[in-house]
Amino acid sequence: MTDLTNKIQDLKKEKNAVILAHNYQRGEIQDIADYVGDSIELSRKAMQEKDAKVIVFCAVDFMAQSAAILNPEKKVLLPTLGARCPMAQMLTVDEIKRAKAKYPKAPVVLYVNTLAEAKAESDVCCTSANALEVIRSLDSDTVLFGPDRNLGEYVAEETGKTVIPIPEWGFCPTHLLFQPEDIVVLKQKYPNAEVLVHPECSGDMRKVADFIGSTSKICRYVKESDAKQFVVGTEDGILHRLRKENPEQEFYIAYDGSVCPNMKLTTLERLYASLKEEKHVVEVPQNVASKARESLERMFQVKC
Ligand code: 13P
Ligand code: SF4
Repeated sequence: MTDLTNKIQDLKKEKNAVILAHNYQRGEIQDIADYVGDSIELSRKAMQEKDAKVIVFCAVDFMAQSAAILNPEKKVLLPTLGARCPMAQMLTVDEIKRAKAKYPKAPVVLYVNTLAEAKAESDVCCTSANALEVIRSLDSDTVLFGPDRNLGEYVAEETGKTVIPIPEWGFCPTHLLFQPEDIVVLKQKYPNAEVLVHPECSGDMRKVADFIGSTSKICRYVKESDAKQFVVGTEDGILHRLRKENPEQEFYIAYDGSVCPNMKLTTLERLYASLKEEKHVVEVPQNVASKARESLERMFQVKC
């Protein structure tokens, strides 16, 4: 252990803190975290940590906001203020209001990759791990869905429901980098490899996938698969966890530059400073938080 990791461990005990890290975090952040997971698992974990006073959320803004909304009695810290998901910024409250006025009967389902103000305007949230179940649970054949257009199209294909995207073209810049022609080349090199793809990828990527799922669902799939090689179509931070948990199997990223720069802003130095100075505290205005919380809780009620 390095001096810095020792100091982080000491501060963690002293402050009664829990460190949560998303599957896309740098390897050294994943290694020091108490728990590594996808967005829904981390939200759940934040709620289960009853004794913790501080939650250090190593991820991006919307994930830390959800933890703050669900745990008003805890101090939630985002180590790097600039760690913002660009997709979450793509859906404004005005856009949601305009869509609601146009389709007053359609429920508003928002991907958790949204800001708290947007969530407060929604009927129910979902993640990529439970989007199909959430949409199926609704008593409506038409839903407003945003901001990820690709996830919306995937949900429409799988559920047969009409999914109206809000905004028209919301996307993840990192997942847009994956292209099916790269898969063709990789499959020539590794013909027995299984192709695992996040639903934020394009429809053309979904067509060449053996499995489509959230980051943690991808991790679970690998554990149950007999394949020895995998081509992975999601942010490259996940390779650290996949290789650590499955040392006998081989993993190849579907595109070499598939990095989410915001996820990578969290370093050990910034994590240390965050714990030491108790910054940056995530605060959500009470009126926004209470409405956003209802939408998140409705998501947790859906059986998966
Ligand atoms: P997961 O919920 O699959 O972890 O995805 C979150 C995300 O931001 C994907 O880009
Ligand atoms: Fe947002 Fe894409 Fe980064 Fe996920 S990978 S946090 S959706 S920018």
